[in-house]
Amino acid sequence: MDKLLVEGGAPLSGTVRVSGAKNAALPLMAASILADGPLTLTNIPRLGDLRTMGRLLGYMGGRAELYPENGGGYREEALLDMSSLDKPEAPHDLVKTMRASSLVLGPLLARHGRAKVSLPGGCAIGVRPIDLHLKALAAMGAEFDLTGGDIVGRAPKDGLVGADIRFDSVTVTGTENVLMAAVLAKGKTVIRNAAREPEVADTARALVAMGAKISGIESDELEIEGVDSLKAASHAVMPDRIEAGTLISAVAMTGGRATIKGARLNDLAVVMGKFTEAGVFLRAENGDLTVEAHRGLLSAVNVTTGPYPGFPTDMQAQFLATMATAKGASIITETIFENRFMHVAELRRLGADVTLEGRTAVVKGVERLSGAPLTASDLRASASLILAAMAAKGTSEITRVYHLDRGYDRLDEKLNGLGAKIKRVKAD
Ligand code: EPZ
Repeated sequence: MDKLLVEGGAPLSGTVRVSGAKNAALPLMAASILADGPLTLTNIPRLGDLRTMGRLLGYMGGRAELYPENGGGYREEALLDMSSLDKPEAPHDLVKTMRASSLVLGPLLARHGRAKVSLPGGCAIGVRPIDLHLKALAAMGAEFDLTGGDIVGRAPKDGLVGADIRFDSVTVTGTENVLMAAVLAKGKTVIRNAAREPEVADTARALVAMGAKISGIESDELEIEGVDSLKAASHAVMPDRIEAGTLISAVAMTGGRATIKGARLNDLAVVMGKFTEAGVFLRAENGDLTVEAHRGLLSAVNVTTGPYPGFPTDMQAQFLATMATAKGASIITETIFENRFMHVAELRRLGADVTLEGRTAVVKGVERLSGAPLTASDLRASASLILAAMAAKGTSEITRVYHLDRGYDRLDEKLNGLGAKIKRVKAD
């Protein structure tokens, strides 16, 4: 397992380009199951979870070619043709490494009438059941048994039937699973209290390009008219708004001035608002975002995470780390996951002053953090530890960076391109 050695104190400067969104590319790869012909995805990020999803699609008997060679380099593309799928199953050894494998459930039921998906276990940030997915798919006629840790699902012999579905609480992949099931179901499906995350809209737009009939995209009420089949299409994956927010945090914490290229700024309005409130200077020009900050001059700001368009839970760890050296006390409330403060214990090792009370963290800004050995626990926590180590005095060593490599496209290389001093030590 690789580790990162981070020498703190370097202010950032320069230009960095945001990669494609992991949480759009994952449902989009699953959507390829629905089509009679190939789905080409461009602008995909180079990261572990997509390679896992590619392995899963291949395991099912489809063809998933990622990052095709391109004369000495590679193209950020996924060429997906699932017409030869003959095993509608997602086995435990793949699902346990990536919960998002459950995204194949809806497409498999819709296209093949059956599915066997290992029930995703919990992860560091929470139990993360998929009961809402199953309840909604059952409303469309699917029946499920749980045997040996696998969910075995079957659609009616004439196929799934459109239904009027209301989610009790917002679920991003639950919305995506049902959306993908509905596009081939018989009749109309309405999804109420649908997730409004931009990645859901990006998935919907690709489905429309494949011939699906979907209205209400970007709203919390999606209306889908089932069609008989979906065709080949090509789709450019949206930019990763969480990677962009993570890069803003990096400049905010270390100080300096950098330009982030390729982000879709209206996905980041709430996040940018909070950083501006904290004293980070943000200027958008022709789609580029210039970020400027002075280390030690940030002000404490309160944040409560929530479903889009609220402050994203996937930015909570990074923002909390940014508040560790802000002036004053900030209150960070996590409303989405029950255990998403794993980064706090590690940040305390750097000298952060954070008190946890249930789902709320009170962060009292300190003058400066000091480097220490750190252990990453989950994807966004590992990013927050890197940022904090970059702002700290001295050197930090971060282990278990495989968490980072699952969900970021070479973030350490991007940060070094801005002047950070991060050395990746390959596992011995
Ligand atoms: C998606 O996870 C993202 N993953 C997560 O990003 C993100 O944190 C999360 O949405 C919230 O925005 C992908 O898109 C691949 P949810 P998802 O269903 O869909 C509960 C990252 O760092 N719930 O919206 O699994 C659940 O436990 C990852 O990139 C149920 O109780 O999240 C959670 O408390 C981490 N039953 C809340 O709802 C269900 O059936 C929101 O979960 C489904 C969810």
